[in-house]
Amino acid sequence: MYCVRKVIDDLYWVGGNDNRLALFENIHPIPRGVSYNSYLLLDKKTVLFDTVDWSVCRQYIENVKYLLNGKPLDYLVINHMEPDHGASIEEILLHYPNVTIISTEKAFMIMRQFGFNVDGHMKEVKEGDTESFGKHKVTFVSAPMVHWPEAMVTYDITNGVLFAADAFGSFGSLGGKLFNDEVNFDRDWIDDARRYYTNIVGKYGPHVQALLKKAGTIDIKLICPLHGPVWRNNFGYILDKYDKWSRYEPEEKGVMIAYASMYGNTEAAANVLATRLVEKGITNVVVHDVSKVHVSQLIADTFKLSHIVLACVTYNLGIYPVMHNYLMDMKALNVKKRTVAILENGSWAPKSGSLIQEFLDGMKEITVLNEQVSVLSSLDENSSTQMDAMVDSIVDSLK
Ligand code: FEO
Repeated sequence: MYCVRKVIDDLYWVGGNDNRLALFENIHPIPRGVSYNSYLLLDKKTVLFDTVDWSVCRQYIENVKYLLNGKPLDYLVINHMEPDHGASIEEILLHYPNVTIISTEKAFMIMRQFGFNVDGHMKEVKEGDTESFGKHKVTFVSAPMVHWPEAMVTYDITNGVLFAADAFGSFGSLGGKLFNDEVNFDRDWIDDARRYYTNIVGKYGPHVQALLKKAGTIDIKLICPLHGPVWRNNFGYILDKYDKWSRYEPEEKGVMIAYASMYGNTEAAANVLATRLVEKGITNVVVHDVSKVHVSQLIADTFKLSHIVLACVTYNLGIYPVMHNYLMDMKALNVKKRTVAILENGSWAPKSGSLIQEFLDGMKEITVLNEQVSVLSSLDENSSTQMDAMVDSIVDSLK
């Protein structure tokens, strides 16, 4: 059975939801699922904007066929060629062999790399090109590295709809609710939107800034992303989040304590630290066990909060592997503008602190507090005094 939603006059959502996939990109947990959005414009010409992941292709074809109701499909606009959106291109070609695919030179190159035979279907466009489909005239805007190099977004000049590719997307399946004002986004969606942005697009802040600058010059009435809800009002809310995330500015003053603990002593120290911070009035504190909390969540909270405490046991004279993995992700995603405090633990040769310091020295715009804590097996009077100094330093820097 078809499952479609009207977006606005002439335009329909024809995508699909996947609640069975456990790991997005085979790495990020998605307990709330994910939607793959595609949109069909019924004008004098019929136009599909992007396709969907293979997992929901059957539903997708049913949706498209229902709305076209026997009419041919004239155009397929591919804004982004990553397989979660481009996988069903060949299936569309099978059903609609006369379709013309509109996309960028790089996207066509990637299509060929994935083995798609699109010869005879290609119409290459670049920044500023326009296309008329009847009533609707669109223009194409390049959006490189948001989040692949071939990406573009398409703006419908006639009705102000922005087909935004991965930008403004989120993890989470739609469950019938398509628009931002049909959900409580700030309560139910923002954490997944942040986790999606920071882990998928987070590395490319300057490119997102460039796209936001372009978006500021057009009159947007609707934002249609490739994942998650369609935005039809309250744009300031999501634009502000994107602006902060892409400038690597924290959303909130607060502290994430990420600890790596083998037998519970570093965990205990992390909890003492959290307690002392809260006692000093710093209540925006979260404590995460890096062995239990997925790194994608650690990254999301790293983007959200201003301060990070890394509390880490020494392991094989090095940084505990799971903590190291988190640090590598921070670096890969270009995290900056954060204040970091270091607590190390070791039973005979505590080393994780100096190694973490060294790692952070290799990153840009990270302030490491001088007040560090070195624990020998478990928190004692000496390390407790060091911790008091660290707490004071964190409180001072939060002012
Ligand atoms: Fe949702 Fe970059 O793909």
